[in-house]
Amino acid sequence: MQLPYDVKLLHVEPTTHCNAHCPQCERNINGGMINPTVTVQHMDIETFKVLINEHRTSLEKVLFCGNAGDPMMHPEILDMMSWARYACDNFVTLGMNTNGSIGNVDQWRRMAGVMTKMEDYVVFSIDGLEDTNDLYRRGTKWSSIMRNAQAFIDAGGRAHWDMLVFDHNQHQVEACEQLAHKIGFRWFRAKETKRFKNPDMRTAYNTVLKPVEFRPRPTEYSEIKCMAQEDASTYVDAGGNQYACCWLASAENLNESWGRPFRNLPWDQLERQWDVQDTAHPCTRTCGQVGVTNVYKSQWRREVEF
Ligand SMILES: C[S@@+](CC[C@H](N)C(=O)[O-])C[C@H]1O[C@@H](n2cnc3c(N)ncnc32)[C@H](O)[C@@H]1O
Ligand code: SF4
Ligand code: SF4
Repeated sequence: MQLPYDVKLLHVEPTTHCNAHCPQCERNINGGMINPTVTVQHMDIETFKVLINEHRTSLEKVLFCGNAGDPMMHPEILDMMSWARYACDNFVTLGMNTNGSIGNVDQWRRMAGVMTKMEDYVVFSIDGLEDTNDLYRRGTKWSSIMRNAQAFIDAGGRAHWDMLVFDHNQHQVEACEQLAHKIGFRWFRAKETKRFKNPDMRTAYNTVLKPVEFRPRPTEYSEIKCMAQEDASTYVDAGGNQYACCWLASAENLNESWGRPFRNLPWDQLERQWDVQDTAHPCTRTCGQVGVTNVYKSQWRREVEF
C-alpha cells in the first residue's frame, strides 16, 4: 500500500486468537461466537519479517496489538519482538497490549529481557479488581494476570495499566490506581469506551456493562485530521493485509457499509472520501474534529504516571 509518508509507527495484529471473549470486542458477537468476518489465524513470522524489512530504515516503533486477538496468543511473539529489535539495529521501540492472563512466569521474564529499551512497555488491559475484571474480560483469570504482571515488572519490564470504566467498576478506579502503584506499574490510565454504538448491545449488557458516561456520538464534525498521517503509521492485520489504520480494518471486521474497500486502498482515494463528511465513515467518526480534539483522543478520563 502506497502511503504519502515513510512509516515510523507500525501497528501489527500478531494474531486473531484470544483466550477471552469481551462483549464489545469485534472478534466475537456480543461476547459469544466468533464474528464470521474474522479469520482466526496467527501472522506468519516470515510475513512479519518482510514487513519489518520493508520499513526498517524509517521505523521508530512497533506496536503489537490488533483488533481481534491477543498478541500473547502468538507462539512466536518473543521471536517477533527480538527480530524487530535486531532488524532495526536496536533502535526501535516495542509496545504491546494484552489482557495479561496468557503465558507463564518464564515467558513474562523473557519478555522483560527483550523489552529493555526505556520506552518499551506492555499495556495490561485490566478493567477492575478481582471481583469485576472478568465481567468484561470474560475468560481471563485474575491470579494469572497478577502473577504475569508481577513477573514482568520484577524482571525490569515497564508495565502500564489501562482500565475501561463501566457502571460496574467505576467505584474501583481509585483502588485500581493504588494497586497499580503498589505492584510497580509505571502508568495508570482509565478510559470510557466509545463503543456500545449499537443500542441493542447496550440493552443486552446494560445490567453490568453500561459505560459510566456513555456519550452519544457527535453528529457534527469539522475537518478530518488523520492520526495515521500525524504519526506516520500504518496497520497490518494477522492475515498480512495493510490498512492506513486499525479503525479502517475494524470497519471491515464489523461489516460496516464503508468497510470492504479499505484494504490496500490507495491514499488519494481515501483522502477523496474525506470530502463526503459522512458521519458513518470511520475517518469522520474517528478523526473528525470535535472542538479542538476528536472522539478517540478525548476518551481518557485519568492518566497518571508513577
Ligand atoms: C482488541 S484489543 C487487542 C489487544 C488485547 N487483546 C487487549 O485486549 O488489550 C485492542 C484494544 O481494544 C481495547 N478494548 C477492548 N474492548 C474495548 C471497549 N469496549 N472499548 C474500548 N476499547 C476496548 C483493549 O483494551 C485494547 O487496548
Ligand atoms: S482480550 Fe482483547 S482481543 Fe481478546 S476478546 Fe478482549 S478485547 Fe478482544
Ligand atoms: S480513521 Fe481515517 S482519518 Fe483516522 S487515522 Fe484512520 S485513515 Fe486516518
